Amino acid sequence: MNAMSEPRGLTRATAFAPASVGNVGIGFDILGFAVDAIGDRITVSRSERPGIRISGCSGVATDLPLEPEKNTAGRALMALNVAAKPAFGFEMHIEKGIPLGSGLGGSAASAVGAVVAANALLDEPFDRLALLKFAMQGEAVASGSLHVDNIAPSLFGGLVLTVGIDNPRVKRIPVPPGITAVIAHPHMFLSTRQARAILKRDVAMADFVWQTANLAGFISGCYTNDLELIREGLNDVVIEPQRRQLIPGFSAVRSAALAAGALGCSISGAGPTMFAWALASHAQTVREQMVAEFARNGVAADHWVVPVESDGARVVA
Ligand code: HSE
Repeated sequence: MNAMSEPRGLTRATAFAPASVGNVGIGFDILGFAVDAIGDRITVSRSERPGIRISGCSGVATDLPLEPEKNTAGRALMALNVAAKPAFGFEMHIEKGIPLGSGLGGSAASAVGAVVAANALLDEPFDRLALLKFAMQGEAVASGSLHVDNIAPSLFGGLVLTVGIDNPRVKRIPVPPGITAVIAHPHMFLSTRQARAILKRDVAMADFVWQTANLAGFISGCYTNDLELIREGLNDVVIEPQRRQLIPGFSAVRSAALAAGALGCSISGAGPTMFAWALASHAQTVREQMVAEFARNGVAADHWVVPVESDGARVVA
């Protein structure tokens, strides 16, 4: 979608920004896909008072900081405001649909929703790549680093590869027909900062080669409808082995998903949510098995089965 087809010049707009799985195992910090089943809804209104005000926060998280510079949506909106220099201010309400610390890109979705809603108020809206850069400023508040693997899919939809940080280039990767994502979110909080802090700074050469091959194979498999290459490639040998100890029942959940026919199963982002890719014919069984294994490990889990191909963030009201 380009800026020309999007609303402009409104006085108030609500945007829905979907959750996301980012990274998708092998594509650490660069590859993610949107999960359109849940998301954040951000309402932005024109205000006579210049600058940005966050009027409140509702939904599954209500205790977010309301100071714009400490809030992911607020910081993203500040970046847009500096670039747009509108003749009005912004007032924003955040309705969280994505649990915090879930590994489903909640902070990214809030940042994306904020800039998509605010963009609809501008007489000369920005294109999506500019919005990506504004939203990245917001994501940095939450995770302490600039990465785009949640922001890009939430904004553009589907499976998205992002190359570069200062000058990010976004590539939507086609997904073979019939592939669905199974998402299981155990009811626990995992800090992204913590899950990043435990990662080693160095990667063994053998793992580097293996991981590179897996990522290349996975993406090639997506372009060529080669399910065996996707199955082979969806195997994170660098990050997952370091993070799986943070998730109760990780190995049992993964094994159950694969036994039920999943093409692959790994950690969604920094966790604790886990995702699997499966053909639609296997997806319900994969979901049942993953949820049952989490339950055996003492954790209840929310769950969704969603197509990987989807639209990104959009103005809904
Ligand atoms: N790619 C990031 C990570 C996502 O895995 O740490 C966290 O939001």
